[in-house]
Amino acid sequence: MNNQNRTPLFDALVEYNRRKPAYFRVPGHRYENGINPILLEAVGDAVFSFDLTETPLLDDLHNATGPIREAEQLAADLWGADYTHFLVNGTTCGNEAMILTALHGGGTVAVPRNAHKSALMGLILSGGNPAYIMPELEEEWGLHGGVHPDTVEEVFRIHPDCKGVLIVSPTYYGIASDLKSIAEICHRHDAILMVDEAHGAHCYFSDDFPKGALELGADVCVQSIHKVAGSLTQSSMLHVKSDRIKKSRMDSNLTLVQSTSPSYLLMLSLDMARHDIARRGKQMIDRAAALAANARERINAIPGMACAGRELIGKAAIFDYDVTRLIVSANAIGITGFDLQKMLFSEYNIDMELANYRNVLGIVTFANEQENLDVLVDALADIAHKHRDGSPLPPAEKLPPQPEYVLSPRNAYFSDRERIPWVDAKGRIASEMIAPYPPGIPVIYPGERVSEEVWDYVEAFRQRNGHLHGPSDAKLSTFVVVR
Ligand SMILES: Cc1ncc(COP(=O)(O)O)c(C=O)c1O
Repeated sequence: MNNQNRTPLFDALVEYNRRKPAYFRVPGHRYENGINPILLEAVGDAVFSFDLTETPLLDDLHNATGPIREAEQLAADLWGADYTHFLVNGTTCGNEAMILTALHGGGTVAVPRNAHKSALMGLILSGGNPAYIMPELEEEWGLHGGVHPDTVEEVFRIHPDCKGVLIVSPTYYGIASDLKSIAEICHRHDAILMVDEAHGAHCYFSDDFPKGALELGADVCVQSIHKVAGSLTQSSMLHVKSDRIKKSRMDSNLTLVQSTSPSYLLMLSLDMARHDIARRGKQMIDRAAALAANARERINAIPGMACAGRELIGKAAIFDYDVTRLIVSANAIGITGFDLQKMLFSEYNIDMELANYRNVLGIVTFANEQENLDVLVDALADIAHKHRDGSPLPPAEKLPPQPEYVLSPRNAYFSDRERIPWVDAKGRIASEMIAPYPPGIPVIYPGERVSEEVWDYVEAFRQRNGHLHGPSDAKLSTFVVVR
């Protein structure tokens, strides 16, 4: 841990800039010389001289043996992995590579219905069969809860050959599943536990947060360092801590899903974020937690507003909760999350991360200021006062049963397809997914047959202009099915 003061990739890039060779490689802008002067004026010039490429001094992401390898090893030491890969195409490509690696040669992996769409892309690329697992539903807040260990046990009863289980933990909403129990179940069945930890890189550095996936027995996890841990957008890390995963296979799968021209700015930002977290990670996230706790208490004191907290733990297979996620609801006074998000942005200049029917989500990080939270609390108090006579929203409807699985996502994706009127979709095999919000769980995945219950459920949403994620025709007048 003591060598965490090192910054190998940063040092190599600084040294390169000190030497500043006459440059005949890509990228063509040659340090800052070729950048549009308007852009230089707006953002300054220094950053462009770090936008370099593979040279003898700067290593190669796809076959790292120099400063990139060293920087990755420092990250592995910090997060407690056997080895770490820097990713330049986000957790998206990490999820794809995990699933490709688990499914090498085909087979089945368990995937939660609320997984990020990169899991579906991994299934399409690999050709594997998903055993879909359902997270529990937390009805009061209209959220996906955790995945119950019994649900995972049941997957292995039905699919004893299942090669791996993917769990999203913590979720966007900060909800963590019981990964320790799930890891034990996976390993008992000779399968790997893959964790989409896109939202959890910071959790490893304070006891007041859910424990990290690697500490709880996950074989592999992927983290969007850019989401809360200070690196640039699109930069992530994949950590492996397992001898159940063949390194050469993971390496080649990562090559398959990443650019051959990985951005040095992204990789550099990963090295520097790791350096910062190693030096002051606990202080950083404890600060975020304190800011969020104070705001939560003040929001809960506003009549008509509510902000979820640790009382979620124990419900709906929620094993732990990341308190830096502010889930704010104005349901009691009849305001949907969608409307609340719009009001906060257009009337108060406050940009929240996302909304669903019941609530809005704000992410607090170490880089927020107290002033940001004050502005949010004041805006919520003002909105609550203006809408004090509103009546509570009705609860969300129950999800329809999981439809019949006919084709693998890959076969559904590559089959001949046709676009048909949505009214004719009943009984057809879907070629795209539909996830009505709330709760954002796909009710149909590619390869599943559109059942009457699913069609009715989606149609009710469509009729009232509800939010539907997934279909290429967002209004769902038409739908793409297997021909
Ligand atoms: C749970 C989850 N997994 C994966 C991703 C994809 O991550 P990235 O944006 O780093 O590609 C996201 C993005 O929002 C996510 O929320």
